[in-house]
Amino acid sequence: MAELSEDGISRNPHNIVWHQVSVSRNAISNKRGHRSAILWFTGLSGSGKSTLANAVNAALFKLDLSSYVLDGDNIRHGLCKDLGFSDLDREENIRRIGEVSKLFLDAGVIVLTAFVSPFRADREKARSLVSEEDFLEIHCAADLSTCEHRDTKGLYAKARAGQIKDFTGISSPYEEPEDPELKLDTGSMGLDACVDAVIQKLIDLNIVPASDSEA
Ligand code: ADX
Repeated sequence: MAELSEDGISRNPHNIVWHQVSVSRNAISNKRGHRSAILWFTGLSGSGKSTLANAVNAALFKLDLSSYVLDGDNIRHGLCKDLGFSDLDREENIRRIGEVSKLFLDAGVIVLTAFVSPFRADREKARSLVSEEDFLEIHCAADLSTCEHRDTKGLYAKARAGQIKDFTGISSPYEEPEDPELKLDTGSMGLDACVDAVIQKLIDLNIVPASDSEA
């Protein structure tokens, strides 16, 4: 069997052996007093994913819980700076974020991802990497006209003018979640109410202890 591919790089998975770690996710969870989970925020550009993920992160920090935000725009400055917005590049973007989120899960961290993640199949693949109880899809459901009206980054105007191609909602599709764990109308609900709804969901699912969050 050929060990090296055409580019001379060895990619034979048979030569790679999983190394067992001695500090388990359970041990971390017991010590910190909360479970880890992936909160997958999805929605159109300008729907409030980053704002909400950051506000929830701040609330969790205040409660002394371990959490971290992976944000689309920020990650595209580093880990995913080689990717654009074609369907294939978005698929790869979401694949990487799914894998990175899984590592955070293992590290006992509540990870909040804020990516448009427009394709149902890509989100489902991310979900399938972990156990059912570890993945919460949160649909930031502000509609297109609201997001376009806000146009916080001026990108919708550029997309309408044909200066950005494959722009989600304009020239590239957004496939709404069919059965998200939480759907928030971020077009009409205030930020505090959205944060409360997410935290309440975490309590209901025993990810965050009720006593801490009510303190
Ligand atoms: S995703 O589709 O691959 O999940 P991601 O969340 O990483 O997208 O990046 C989306 C952000 O990139 C948007 O919030 C917006 O600021 C910016 N952006 C630039 N070009 C596009 C585009 N063609 N479609 C959507 N967002 C874009």
